Amino acid sequence: MDALDNILLRNSARSLTLPHPTEEEMETVYKAALRAPDHAWLRPSRFIQVTGEGLNKLSEIFVEYAKENIDDVSPETLEKYKSAPFRAPMVIILVTNVTEHPKVPEIEQMLSSATAGQNILLALNALNYSAIWRTGIFAFNEMVSQRMGLEENQKIIGYLYVGTSEGKVKNIPELDPSDYVTEWS
Ligand SMILES: Cc1cc2nc3c(=O)[nH]c(=O)nc-3n(C[C@H](O)[C@H](O)[C@H](O)COP(=O)(O)O)c2cc1C
Repeated sequence: MDALDNILLRNSARSLTLPHPTEEEMETVYKAALRAPDHAWLRPSRFIQVTGEGLNKLSEIFVEYAKENIDDVSPETLEKYKSAPFRAPMVIILVTNVTEHPKVPEIEQMLSSATAGQNILLALNALNYSAIWRTGIFAFNEMVSQRMGLEENQKIIGYLYVGTSEGKVKNIPELDPSDYVTEWS
């Protein structure tokens, strides 16, 4: 696919099913992620790839967190959190491993991981897969990261739900760049 078309036509998908990318394809996807801009080459991004039984583990983490931390959580809400990881056959948990650096603050390291996330979305699109980036209460959440066994400096910045798009694909909105661009010349 033409590189510009890949960017212009990328479309997040809410309904995702099998197949998910193969191990070999994911190797390429992670190489693309690791080409994200990265101040001082700190390599701040980490990726937890969740499939199969791992989705049950993620579901249990979400439910246990909700039971212990949300007052009077309803059975409907618990069911929603329990089923959340199964909205796709693969979930990539996007993590920033924050390190102390005199010139690179935490926000820049998280921004680098965000661009790694976009590179993942674009690489998946180029390989004819689809994905959607979600956050919600389980991102930027220290208790959830602890339950995942992450260190204190490792922040969950998002969840990429990955698979093959099924059902209707939404129209990509036509935006006029002149509404967003100011020129100084
Ligand atoms: C940091 C970040 C967090 C997001 N969190 C959610 C979310 O929790 N739930 C959701 O439905 N969409 C979320 N989105 C938006 C979707 O990923 C997606 O961009 C949106 O549905 C628009 O589709 P498009 O990417 O095809 O334009 C998030 C996007 C970003 C960048």
